[in-house]
Amino acid sequence: MGIEFLNSNIQIFGPNKTEKASNSKQIVSFTQNPDTFEISTPAIYNFGSEQVIKKLIDSSPRLKRMLKFYGIDEKINIEELQKLIDGHLIETQNTVGDIYKNLPPAAKSKINLKAVKDAALYHDFGKVLIPVEILNKPASLSPSEHEIMDLHTEIGYELLKNSGLNDKALFLIKNHHNKNLIPSDLDIQILNLADRYCALTENRPYKVDYTPKQAMTILYNDVENGNIDPFIYYALQKAINKK
Ligand SMILES: [Fe+2]
Repeated sequence: MGIEFLNSNIQIFGPNKTEKASNSKQIVSFTQNPDTFEISTPAIYNFGSEQVIKKLIDSSPRLKRMLKFYGIDEKINIEELQKLIDGHLIETQNTVGDIYKNLPPAAKSKINLKAVKDAALYHDFGKVLIPVEILNKPASLSPSEHEIMDLHTEIGYELLKNSGLNDKALFLIKNHHNKNLIPSDLDIQILNLADRYCALTENRPYKVDYTPKQAMTILYNDVENGNIDPFIYYALQKAINKK
């Protein structure tokens, strides 16, 4: 059960972006069906409101201190969040589903599918507070810009930690780029592989889109260096071959 935000005028974002809550009491909660890969009610759309995100910021003194320390304005980039939701986050969640479906049964039993799917949908939520000039910089980031960009995992965790997402999903959001933890956790591996495959095949301001074959060639390095389990990599390869 998620926390509830009561608001009389919550903007709901999603494929039909202009849809607006008409009821006077909008309840934000997590209602995804854990047994399917379909997004029955994309709860993240309910967080696509400046008012709701402002409340999430205000609910975390640690986040406020962090933003102040790094000199990040509490500027909410709703447009960027919308683009993420419609593209990368949904794509990553679908890719997690594709990987899972193509795993051998013995591997499937080790995966916390609900947590990985939820985390996939929210993993970059913290980018809503990353300055847009860093987020969309059409060139490599400087070391200090990298430091700010890397905070999106911690910011996402702080924003969502009281949202009702389960602890494992929150752990995955916080650690989806954590190189020290990736080799030892199959759930992070699935999220990390799906995230990077989608990022590589998407067109970004600082890079062209790679073909699936090019992306898989790049990602194979992580199998060779022991970061990604071969079963997970080949499950993604199988899914791509079926398309
Ligand atoms: Fe990320």
